Amino acid sequence: MIEEVTTEYPSAYDSIKKATQACGFLQMSEISTCTLLKTLAASKPGSRFLELGTGTGLATAWILDGMDKDSTLMSLDNEESLLHIAKENLGVDKRLTLICADGNEWIKKNSRLKFSFIFADTWPGKYMLLNEALEMLEKGGIYIIDDMLPQPNWPEGHADKVAGLLQALDDRQDLAVTKMGWASGVVIVVKK
Ligand SMILES: C[S@@+](CC[C@H](N)C(=O)[O-])C[C@H]1O[C@@H](n2cnc3c(N)ncnc32)[C@H](O)[C@@H]1O
Repeated sequence: MIEEVTTEYPSAYDSIKKATQACGFLQMSEISTCTLLKTLAASKPGSRFLELGTGTGLATAWILDGMDKDSTLMSLDNEESLLHIAKENLGVDKRLTLICADGNEWIKKNSRLKFSFIFADTWPGKYMLLNEALEMLEKGGIYIIDDMLPQPNWPEGHADKVAGLLQALDDRQDLAVTKMGWASGVVIVVKK
């Protein structure tokens, strides 16, 4: 039996979780995904990281924990009240830039930026503007998504969107794609 979470939790974890529960935000990333993000982040020293969909900063905290001191993370969300929790808890970390913006507009405006690591955890950059987000990924860079396994709370038609996204990734010749039936359904993509 392998224990999934044996690593140390980020120091801000308890505080973020408490504030997240207090505000009723239910879409936070699960712990196994977060530990994977930390592990993969550690494979990219001195790199530029992007998180699309900060929420309250739970995964953000884990990504920061995996990053080295020379790396930077941009994380964006369109919900100011959620970003406020992330800012309160992680704002002292100078490697982190929190952005309040609509993801679609931000991706279009910042298409020239390049990243070694993208955690796409919202609609823009995942179900919308997928190719544009992948354009921002450097060669050898990692693109990660989760929530690809069926969930009871999926709205009608969402399964088709997931299937379409997975097919779009498979159709690209410049990507190495691994779909894992693990946690909420994580997919790891590396640009060749
Ligand atoms: C799955 S949650 C992110 C969870 C977060 N990564 C975590 O670890 O807990 C998705 C987030 O996307 C944000 N969002 C939804 N639509 C958006 C948009 N068009 N642009 C930017 N953010 C958006 C929501 O406010 C929500 O916080």
